[in-house]
Amino acid sequence: MSACPTPPFKTRITELFGIEHPILCGGLMWLSDARYVAASVNAGGMGFITARTFPDPGAFRAELQTCHALTGGRPFGVNLYLTPRDADNGFIKGHIDILLEEGVRIIETAGLPPKDLLPGLREAGARIIHKTSTVRHAVSAAKLGIDAVTVVGAECGGHPGVQLVGTLVQTPLAAERLTLPFAVGGGIGHGAQLVAALAMGADAVLIGTRMLAAAEISAHPAYKARMIEADEGASRLIMQSFRNTYRVLDNADARSVAALEAAGETDYERYRPFVAGVQQRLAYDTGDWERGVLSMGQSIVFARGPQTVAEIYAQLLAEAMVARARLASR
Ligand SMILES: Cc1cc2nc3c(=O)[nH]c(=O)nc-3n(C[C@H](O)[C@H](O)[C@H](O)COP(=O)(O)O)c2cc1C
Repeated sequence: MSACPTPPFKTRITELFGIEHPILCGGLMWLSDARYVAASVNAGGMGFITARTFPDPGAFRAELQTCHALTGGRPFGVNLYLTPRDADNGFIKGHIDILLEEGVRIIETAGLPPKDLLPGLREAGARIIHKTSTVRHAVSAAKLGIDAVTVVGAECGGHPGVQLVGTLVQTPLAAERLTLPFAVGGGIGHGAQLVAALAMGADAVLIGTRMLAAAEISAHPAYKARMIEADEGASRLIMQSFRNTYRVLDNADARSVAALEAAGETDYERYRPFVAGVQQRLAYDTGDWERGVLSMGQSIVFARGPQTVAEIYAQLLAEAMVARARLASR
């Protein structure tokens, strides 16, 4: 079921992925499961199951099969995040075999450029969109033989990169420098921004934060209530001293990390109790949102109440139509 009877926007990315709306829901560690991703696909956009959330091969395969069942066979994507630590990427090749066996042909890569993975994926006919935090990195990734790129700006939840250039600057710059289809993300959670991004030359928007309170997100209700309450100032940047900047919810653990950084602490082990992925998992499961470093961006301010993913898509498209009409009248 699409969020809008007549899809109002057709772009190179809607064509590339065979979707109705130029709205991509980026991979969310621990949260992008079959239910959430299928909801994005069924609303007419695209979603990506985060492979890292399902390190066990059997669990990963089962999640893909569930997603197929929930979308009624409509294509969906998988997110492959490559960390700078080689040892942490060991499972990815096996997961690629599984996703290809299960018929997945849409991949969002992020982190390191997916150079070594490309030949196998391309040979299998996969369409690959690689996410970067700078236009410069997007330009070099475009040379690898991928199908599209995403550029995320400083406002984004998760990793905004070290330069922290905003989406309003990156979008027209990306349009000038890229010939490949591209999506932009970082701070996008309102339909007017969708129109603005398309007007600036983007082929789609990528959304993460705006979806965090969605009904299909599996996190505890207390966490979602915090997301609904949070405003545009509720995030903070941490780990800049490690050149591994994160934008996260400003909570107790994020403040502990910030205090260590302010004190000049360089031993990563002192940070581990706060930044370990298991803490995020606990926060999502128990609703104790003061715990863990929880990726969240500035666009959380647009999540103002409980909504399903389909309702969020419908709202984004309705806001986009208003923005388009406003522009036409000026
Ligand atoms: C809770 C959360 C978890 C995320 N996990 C991942 C991840 O595992 N892999 C990834 O490539 N990006 C991840 N991201 C980034 C999103 O896919 C997307 O790029 C970003 O959220 C877009 O910016 P926005 O937050 O302003 O919408 C995450 C973002 C959030 C908010």
